[in-house]
Amino acid sequence: MGISYKEIGLVNTRDLFAKAMKGGYAVPAFNFNNLEQLQSIIQACSEVASPVILQVSKGARQYANATLLKHLAQGAVAFSKELTKGKGIPIALHLDHGDCLDLVKDCIAFGFSSVMIDGSHLPYEENVKTTKAVVDYAHQFDVTVEGELGVLAGVEDEVSAEHHTYTRPEEVVDFTKRTTVDSLAISIGTSHGAYKFKPGQKAEIRLDILHEIEKRIPGYPIVLHGASSVPQDLVVKMRQYGGKMDDAIGIGEDQVREAARSAVCKVNIDSDGRLAMTAAIREVFAKKPEEFDPRKYLGPAREALKELYKRKCTEVLGSAGHAWD
Ligand code: G3H
Ligand code: 13P
Ligand code: ZN
Repeated sequence: MGISYKEIGLVNTRDLFAKAMKGGYAVPAFNFNNLEQLQSIIQACSEVASPVILQVSKGARQYANATLLKHLAQGAVAFSKELTKGKGIPIALHLDHGDCLDLVKDCIAFGFSSVMIDGSHLPYEENVKTTKAVVDYAHQFDVTVEGELGVLAGVEDEVSAEHHTYTRPEEVVDFTKRTTVDSLAISIGTSHGAYKFKPGQKAEIRLDILHEIEKRIPGYPIVLHGASSVPQDLVVKMRQYGGKMDDAIGIGEDQVREAARSAVCKVNIDSDGRLAMTAAIREVFAKKPEEFDPRKYLGPAREALKELYKRKCTEVLGSAGHAWD
């Protein structure tokens, strides 16, 4: 039952990743949970002609409502066509950090075209089994699946880890073969949230591990989570307008750019968007305390988000101009 993502006009990630691999860029996966975020993602990606993955976590789905999300995704497809003389950029709707098959089933019934099953916290054999069960289910509907090997430090929904467990290159061949997942998220030193490195720590990710993985599974789409760069001008703006944000350090955009040129076909960015949005809202509140029309502060926030996403597509991920490859 339910609705197929194809009826909504969405695409799965198979073709997106094949083109990204060939073109040496990564498709942006921007998290969203409300209308303004969605508007800015679609506007930004349509303006720079980038394919896009609309990414929704379990918590975001609960926040936004599953039924509304389905209609929002359908609206996003129509909106993008309106902005691009009827062409429409390719749009995937993806479940971020799915934690069980039941959630995956529900998302697929509500129009998702791609899902992640995050078994990274499980023992290896259990991760294989859980991921395979999701793939077997999802592939019946031509929905693509992302699995994960290795654990990122930081917080994601209810799960948190203090330290990274880097992906073990020696496991990737077995894992991808046995699970038949369509893409693999790896842990190479990125992490979720705005505090990725401690002051004094070398802010570098392990591109050497990425390259070792690439060698073992050539041409296989790799996913980078926790890839926000935490732009320091946004941190300054947050503080300037009353926010508290000490020692927030992200991943250098040059490193993400290098990863995007290689087998990394999908890059997840959430925290940078949260920062851009909140800093813009704070600025309005500080400068115009008399303002109480939500459009007057969400409007500038939407504009700031759009500029951030456009810059990510053009300068960091290299996806701009590749919507209709
Ligand atoms: O990886 C986590 C994403 O940033 C989503 O975060 O679970 O708070 O919506 P969330
Ligand atoms: P950031 O917290 O670095 O934006 O990562 C987001 C993410 O990986 C979502 O899955
Ligand atoms: Zn993530």
